[in-house]
Amino acid sequence: MARRERLIQATVTLLVLATWLCQSSSAVAVPAPPPPQPHPKNITCVPGERDALLAFKAGLTDPNNYLSSWRVEEDCCWWTGVECSYRIDHVVSLHVNSDTDLYGEIMPGAIGGQISSSLLTLRHLKYLDLSYNNFSGSPIPEFIGGLRSLKHLALTSSSFDGRIPPHLGNLSNLVSLDLSFQSHGFCSPDLAWLSRLRKLQYLNISEVDLSANVNWTHVVNMLPSLITLELAACGLQNTMTLPLHSNLTSLDTLDLESNSFNSSFGANYLAWDLPMLTYLDLSNCGIQGGDVGNLTSIQLLSLSRNNFSRMVPSTFKKLKKLQLLQLSENFISGDIEDLFHRLPTNELQELDLDCNNLRGRLPDRLEQFSSLLILKLSNNKLSGEIPVGEFPTFLQRCKELKFLDLASNKFTGSLPTWIWSKIPSLAFLRLRSNMLTGGIPDELTKMKGLQYLDISNNNISGKIPLSLGNLIAMAHSPNKQGTLFKTVNFFVVVSIYKNPHAYTDSLWVVTKGQQLEYTTGIVYMVNIDFSCNNLTGQIPHEIGMLVALKNLNLSWNHLSSAIPQTIGELRAVESLDLSHNELSREIPITLADLTSLAHLNLSYNNLTGTIPFGNQLRTLDDQPSIYIGNPGLCGPPVSRNCSQTETTTPAPED
Ligand SMILES: *[C@@H]1O[C@H](CO)[C@@H](O)[C@H](O)[C@H]1NC(C)=O
Ligand SMILES: *[C@@H]1O[C@H](CO)[C@@H](O)[C@H](O)[C@H]1NC(C)=O
Ligand SMILES: *[C@@H]1O[C@H](CO)[C@@H](O)[C@H](O)[C@H]1NC(C)=O
Ligand SMILES: *[C@@H]1O[C@H](CO)[C@@H](O)[C@H](O)[C@H]1NC(C)=O
Ligand SMILES: *[C@@H]1O[C@H](CO)[C@@H](O)[C@H](O)[C@H]1NC(C)=O
Ligand SMILES: *[C@@H]1O[C@H](CO)[C@@H](O)[C@H](O)[C@H]1NC(C)=O
Ligand SMILES: *[C@@H]1O[C@H](CO)[C@@H](O)[C@H](O)[C@H]1NC(C)=O
Ligand SMILES: *[C@@H]1O[C@H](CO)[C@@H](O)[C@H](O)[C@H]1NC(C)=O
Ligand SMILES: *[C@@H]1O[C@H](CO)[C@@H](O)[C@H](O)[C@H]1NC(C)=O
Ligand SMILES: *[C@@H]1O[C@H](CO)[C@@H](O)[C@H](O)[C@H]1NC(C)=O
Ligand SMILES: *[C@@H]1O[C@H](CO)[C@@H](O)[C@H](O)[C@H]1NC(C)=O
Ligand SMILES: *[C@@H]1O[C@H](CO)[C@@H](O)[C@H](O)[C@H]1NC(C)=O
Repeated sequence: MARRERLIQATVTLLVLATWLCQSSSAVAVPAPPPPQPHPKNITCVPGERDALLAFKAGLTDPNNYLSSWRVEEDCCWWTGVECSYRIDHVVSLHVNSDTDLYGEIMPGAIGGQISSSLLTLRHLKYLDLSYNNFSGSPIPEFIGGLRSLKHLALTSSSFDGRIPPHLGNLSNLVSLDLSFQSHGFCSPDLAWLSRLRKLQYLNISEVDLSANVNWTHVVNMLPSLITLELAACGLQNTMTLPLHSNLTSLDTLDLESNSFNSSFGANYLAWDLPMLTYLDLSNCGIQGGDVGNLTSIQLLSLSRNNFSRMVPSTFKKLKKLQLLQLSENFISGDIEDLFHRLPTNELQELDLDCNNLRGRLPDRLEQFSSLLILKLSNNKLSGEIPVGEFPTFLQRCKELKFLDLASNKFTGSLPTWIWSKIPSLAFLRLRSNMLTGGIPDELTKMKGLQYLDISNNNISGKIPLSLGNLIAMAHSPNKQGTLFKTVNFFVVVSIYKNPHAYTDSLWVVTKGQQLEYTTGIVYMVNIDFSCNNLTGQIPHEIGMLVALKNLNLSWNHLSSAIPQTIGELRAVESLDLSHNELSREIPITLADLTSLAHLNLSYNNLTGTIPFGNQLRTLDDQPSIYIGNPGLCGPPVSRNCSQTETTTPAPED
């Protein structure tokens, strides 16, 4: 299946999930099994094929009984994973897969054992899928090359080892072949067999050791029908020259991620003549730079984690159809405005320049990037103010922006007040670790779609605005039909559809007391992080309106007075950090209502009285450290007893 189809499928799945979440009151999605397919007429299993399947089953180990429906007394066309054609009553399709976990890893109890050559009896078999089983290091049997009718062969992630049998080159009808992700030693030192598969459109041999093939570009050049070529992490190294004449006129997707190309040669792949290519992943390949040649149809280009240094070549401007450009984790230096002028602008929806050495101010006048949805500029050396003025800065033109990451730069000045009116749909705003000053403007709370706000590690002072409750994307319980899931899922869908790799993209979020890597989860993160600033005054009790919050971090400020009782309304909160402030009085008993809480830190404040207890509070790890540095607290888990005289006055509401 081509990547594009898979993406559309994933998109549809997400849309279905989104709809489901909006309608349901529970938070766990259990997709209903598909209804059994009614057969249009009686099909009788061909007895010889049934016996072949039973012999195949007899060779397998199946501790979880995935094949329990494979019984002599049942029509084999109705067995799980078996499909017969309607016309000729032959077995045409065989899918035997074990369950996997979320990450596609095989789980204990997977199907294993011997693959019986009785399968050769299935002379009409077009589709064979034995993916996600555990053949514990045995080689792929050579006889599979004798299944001459096969059009689709998938043996993904089934713990095969040894060499790919060259006999697979006999499968001249093959349209798709997936042998990716096996045991460590699984390899093909000579890919010559591949060049015989002239009808092949989809090939995935990612994570198969191909390091001995200096000639691989010439071999794949013999496959004129190729649409998708997946060669991630194959140990590909320096290579001979590229073929002079490229036969790959249909190639749409080329994934070469995580191969260690010689830095100067690797750049040549950018000049490979692939007229239909829309997706190219050359991330983590040790490439130092290079000009793009004829890749003018390219839409998605990932060059993250390479050795690009100095400035990007101005030939990038030729890539007029580019929608996504990832250049994060390189050594690009120079002025940000100069770089922007070298990029194509019309279609660009995601631009990722995280972790480079870019300098300068965000440009004021730049008639560009009005299609941007995602802009990541974190971990650079950008400076100046995040433009405050009335003039239309380039950011103010990005009206569709959903995700803006300017964290870990040297921005100064105050938090922008125009964002809510100019970029009304912004959902993620990361400004942490800059040198921003001034207060939190009320305008920031007018951003109706904002679900993720991180301004920590700055020098923000003043009070937390009482208008906090206006952040309605954070104020809708995920259980109720509300705006939240609409925003969130729209974002996921856009991001996945446009870029499969954005889905696995990661972003660091400080929560639960440590840095956790959020992958897909980031889009479901509802977060306020104001930590490590200079905020004063009290925590407004309006905070209780933000019932969708999962992470609330107000630590290392100068917040004083009592913790509001309304804190107990944050039922979705998983991580709550109020440590290193000047909070006083009693800990509200409502804290025990936070049933989702997994991390709590109230240390180094001036809290007094009895520590509340509740089931959830008792289950948290490292109990004493939650409360340390509050000499006035008493009762378990701290050692100080609550004496009779210390009957505490309840914390006032206001
Ligand atoms: C065909 O279908 C009919 C009615 O559904 C059933 O009675 C009959 O046993 C079936 N024949 C076979 C060979 O399965
Ligand atoms: C696969 O099977 C082998 C031997 O039966 C076992 O050692 C191994 O742990 C299994 N692998 C997985 C991922 O279950
Ligand atoms: C299939 O391929 C293998 C190895 O490439 C070869 O030795 C064998 O003769 C082929 N079998 C047939 C039936 O063509
Ligand atoms: C190719 O195989 C790898 C490893 O199994 C997998 O992660 C990737 O999703 C596959 N590519 C496509 C387009 O399905
Ligand atoms: C490289 O591949 C081409 C095409 O398959 C073949 O003609 C050539 O001999 C190969 N060269 C080497 C060094 O393997
Ligand atoms: C592919 O290109 C090579 C030259 O690089 C040529 O020799 C070969 O015949 C072409 N193959 C097909 C199938 O077009
Ligand atoms: C990389 O390839 C170029 C040209 O093929 C060669 O001159 C250079 O020595 C190679 N460098 C390394 C580190 O292999
Ligand atoms: C780019 O494509 C044009 C026309 O298809 C061709 O003439 C030219 O040689 C190609 N350039 C490169 C560097 O491949
Ligand atoms: C890439 O840069 C890193 C860090 O500067 C260096 O260690 C590595 O050798 C470089 N790799 C190549 C292929 O130039
Ligand atoms: C923080 O801002 C205040 C003014 O609001 C200023 O007096 C102070 O020096 C700043 N601190 C740092 C570390 O920049
Ligand atoms: C906090 O703000 C006060 C008053 O504006 C200022 O004197 C102090 O330096 C600030 N503290 C830090 C750590 O910036
Ligand atoms: C701690 O809180 C008490 C009132 O509960 C107050 O009297 C005292 O001054 C506070 N101490 C500090 C250091 O803020």
